[in-house]
Parts: sequence; C-alpha cells; structure tokens
Amino acid sequence: MTKNSFATRGDGESLQINLQKLIRKHLLIVGQTGSGKTTSTLALLNQLQHANYTNVVLDPTGEYRQLPNAVTYRLADNAYLEAGQLSAQQLCLALNVHLPDSVINALISAINALRIQRNLVNDDQPYVKINVPIAKYQRQLERLGDWARSYNPQLLGRQLIEEMIIPSEGDDADYSLLGQQYDRRVINSNWLQLTTVRQRLISHAFRVLFGESTQKGRSQTELLFALKMFLNQTSIHRTLVIDLSALQRYLSSQRVVISLLFHHLLMMQLASRQPRPVNIVLDEAHRYLPTDPRQLADNGIFQVLREGRKAGISVTMTTQSPLDLPARLRSQFSSYLIHRLAAPEELSSLAGLTALSANDIGQLRTGEAIVHQDGHDNMEVFVTKPEWLH
Ligand SMILES: Nc1ncnc2c1ncn2[C@@H]1O[C@H](COP(=O)(O)OP(=O)(O)OP(=O)(O)O)[C@@H](O)[C@H]1O
Ligand SMILES: [Mg+2]
Repeated sequence: MTKNSFATRGDGESLQINLQKLIRKHLLIVGQTGSGKTTSTLALLNQLQHANYTNVVLDPTGEYRQLPNAVTYRLADNAYLEAGQLSAQQLCLALNVHLPDSVINALISAINALRIQRNLVNDDQPYVKINVPIAKYQRQLERLGDWARSYNPQLLGRQLIEEMIIPSEGDDADYSLLGQQYDRRVINSNWLQLTTVRQRLISHAFRVLFGESTQKGRSQTELLFALKMFLNQTSIHRTLVIDLSALQRYLSSQRVVISLLFHHLLMMQLASRQPRPVNIVLDEAHRYLPTDPRQLADNGIFQVLREGRKAGISVTMTTQSPLDLPARLRSQFSSYLIHRLAAPEELSSLAGLTALSANDIGQLRTGEAIVHQDGHDNMEVFVTKPEWLH
C-alpha cells in the first residue's frame, strides 16, 4: 500500500486517480453512517493540499479540526460574522424567529437606522426618530454606502420600538416629521414578537454568531473578510477551515451562515480577474439545505453548484443518502464516490450508474467505495486513511 495515494485497489496496489479532475465538476460522496465518508473527504483534502490545490471547508461539527496545515477560523473563538452582512430575512432565519411582514419592514428600517448611528453619527444608542424631519432622515439614508454595513445588533430590540411611531393626533400634527409619538396600538399588538426578538438578541446562538460570546481580549476576524483574505493571498496553507461547531445546536443559524458563505465565495470568485480554482467542502450537506424546496434557488449551496464552475469553484459534499438531496441539486454532480448504501432506490437515483449492482454496493466494507466519473469506467477502491487521522 502506498502511503501517499488516495486509494488502492482491492489487492492493495496503489491507484492513480486524477483527483483534480474528479472534483472539478462537483463530487458527491455518499454512504451509510459509518461507511467512511468523512475519512474519504479528509483523505481527499490531504491529497489536494499536497498538490497545492485551494480548499475551503465549511465544518459544522468540528470534525475537520484534525486536518493538518489548515488555516482555521472558529466561531466563538477567533471569528464572528458581521451582523450587517445579513438581510432582515436572513437575520430572522438565523435567530429562528418568525415575524409578520409589518415587523420585518420595521426590522429593515431599524437596521438602516442603526447603520446611520454606527457609521454616520458615531453614537452607540438607538436612533430616536420622534421629531426627526423626513428630509433629514432621507439625506442620511442616501449617505449610507455599502461601506457602512456594520451596526450594533444588540440595539435592534430597542430600535424596533423607535420605528413604531406616528404623527400627533392633535392640531399640532406635523407631517414633515417621521413621527411625533409612539404608536402604542401597533407596539402592543406586536408585543409578543418584539419580546421574542429581544430574547433572541441575548441568546447564546446570537452571541456566538456575532462575536459577543468570546472572552474579552481575544482577537477576532470577520468571517467574510477571512474568506476574502484567504482567496486573495498566496498562502503556504492551502486549506481554510471555517469551524461552525459552536452553533451545532442551532441548525437554522448554521444553514444561514453556510448559505451566505457559499454565496459570497461565488461572488468573490466571479469578481476576481484571475480566480484560482477552489474546492469547497461540506460534510452531511443535506442538513444545511432549506427544508422548503421553493427556497432552493435562493440558497448559496445551490447557486454554487449551478454557477460555480465558471468561476472555478467545485463542490465536494457528502450525504448519507442521495435521496436526501432534491433531484435538481443531485443532478449537478458528475462524479460520485459511493460507499456502502442499503437501498436500491438510493443507487438508481444517481445518474449513470446502471451498471452497478445494488447488492454489491450494499456489501461494501468501511472505506471501500466505487469511484464514478463521467467518461470513465467505474472503479472499486479502498480509500487510504491518512496516517495522522485517529
Ligand atoms: N478508508 C478507511 N480506512 C480505515 N478506516 C476507515 C476508513 N474509512 C473509515 N474508517 C473508519 O470507520 C469509522 C467511520 O468512518 P467515518 O467517520 O469516515 O464514516 P462516515 O461515513 O463519515 O460516518 P458518519 O455518517 O457517522 O459521519 C471511523 O472510525 C474511521 O476511522
Ligand atoms: Mg461523517
């Protein structure tokens, strides 16, 4: 067995597989729990790193911490997400709150008001809108450029109240102002949602995501900034691991962050004049897809699968059953690494595998797999577990 090869044949002889070609049109690694998916993904990353190939691993469970020679950013440790990177809708998803449209609109407005406070006024307080002329506020909004995204998310609960204002009901009503008094009717009728938002603002998930749970003095890097730096700099480390395991108990937050990172990676590669090929890795990907298939088009994972190739991005993802993925997404892969699968329907859901017997796939031992690549014969292999992996 050759130490440095990705996989061997059944007889132990090492195999030459062009891994860069294997991943280029997206690679799907499937197999039952314990069949060897994560080990194979780590073995693949190990080889790609040696070949100087750039990888970005989004790691929701912390399993990729073992990978040597990676640059690692870990939420709640040395990384955070800038709240201003999320739209109001994404923020609600990340916080797992369901708000009526009227409150979402107030939230959009509250975010803008707090961006003004942070970036133009330099005041770490809510924006009190009562008696502010509409024209003045409009001028401030117009000065907010894309550079001024950041704001203090902890003030959102209080700012939402400042958004719920109306003109005076008496003769002194001044319709050139944003408002003259609180709209108690609206505040009271939305009170439950408003208190839920406030509770979520002090929740653990929120503090982890936006960098408020970290010990004082620990320096932190913004995740999208870290991603950009990594893609633009020629570092000796060829793999970036973004460890999201601090959010492990908050699946909806992980989904939002993963979709956002995929989306931004696509934007960054498209904006680059000479994008370097990059492989983005997501283990157990089905968990991080939207539950509603109608939301698939807006999801960063799907966008990258569909449009990533022209920007030099390939996706390597694992899942226990191909049936866990929507067919529209499954059809984006042209290579598979198939570990042990139990049900024949799982195999038949993957295009181009008619020659394989479900019975044989059901018998594969841990670490054994079939490599399927467009235009090549299927190969049965045994993946070499990297020597550093325990
Ligand atoms: N190629 C291999 N050679 C030797 N041992 C292996 C190989 N692949 C997997 N194993 C061992 O089998 C066990 C399960 O492997 P792994 O965690 O990679 O499976 P998995 O499919 O990712 O499982 P899960 O669904 O639980 O994530 C581990 O103890 C691992 O060390
Ligand atoms: Mg695994």
